[in-house]
Amino acid sequence: MDFHILTLLPEMVENALETSVLGRAVEEGIIRINAVNIRDFSAEKHHKVDDYPYGGGAGMLMQAQPVYDAWKSITDRTGKDVRCIYMTPQGRVFSQQMAKEFALEEELIFLCGRYEGVDERVLEEIVTDEVSIGDYVLTGGELPAMVMIDAISRMIPGVLHNEESAEGDSFGDGLLEYPQYSRPEIWNGKAVPKILLSGDHAKVDAWRREQSLIRTADRRPDLLESAHVSPKEKAFIENYLANKKDR
Ligand code: ADE
Repeated sequence: MDFHILTLLPEMVENALETSVLGRAVEEGIIRINAVNIRDFSAEKHHKVDDYPYGGGAGMLMQAQPVYDAWKSITDRTGKDVRCIYMTPQGRVFSQQMAKEFALEEELIFLCGRYEGVDERVLEEIVTDEVSIGDYVLTGGELPAMVMIDAISRMIPGVLHNEESAEGDSFGDGLLEYPQYSRPEIWNGKAVPKILLSGDHAKVDAWRREQSLIRTADRRPDLLESAHVSPKEKAFIENYLANKKDR
């Protein structure tokens, strides 16, 4: 998968995405990170990329021309049907499901805004998807793009090695992940749940599934509506919540 990132801060993106698991995926040739500096495409002699908004108001806007030409430098090679994702708090809120869908693409373009935003006309011209990473405002689109690229990359076959498998992830089947424990068996006076030491894989699996159901019911009950839960599991949750109320 080729990730093209249109940004005024290419080093920020390159440094962060070329370490750890994603760095290894880059080395293995499974993903490529192509950070494109929008400033390199400014037609202005001082390489200016921003200007005042018409109608007044605070701050500066990114101008249409450098953004468009930076985008065109990519699509001249790839064709114009590559999805171009604009990072904005006004977009659809990013989710695990969206990460899985974007992971099916061969190339993606991310447009990262800075300043107060981007001239609307170039957004109309090039953007296919507007995505937000949550209801808060950041100083630019770079961190959101990195968040998306990290979540998407994990869904690409070969990026995670066996020991890091995405199986059992929170949200995998719409539920939160069960709690996990490592050595020692007793730490700070707290023992690991006995069932995990039993060696009985069927029992361990059943316990973990129950813990996922309980966690989701406690912490994110909103997820249960669209989670993959059997009628028997639904009854288990209702029973758990009824008992909890009594306590
Ligand atoms: N740019 C600034 N804030 C953002 C957010 N929450 N999501 C995506 N892009 C952004």
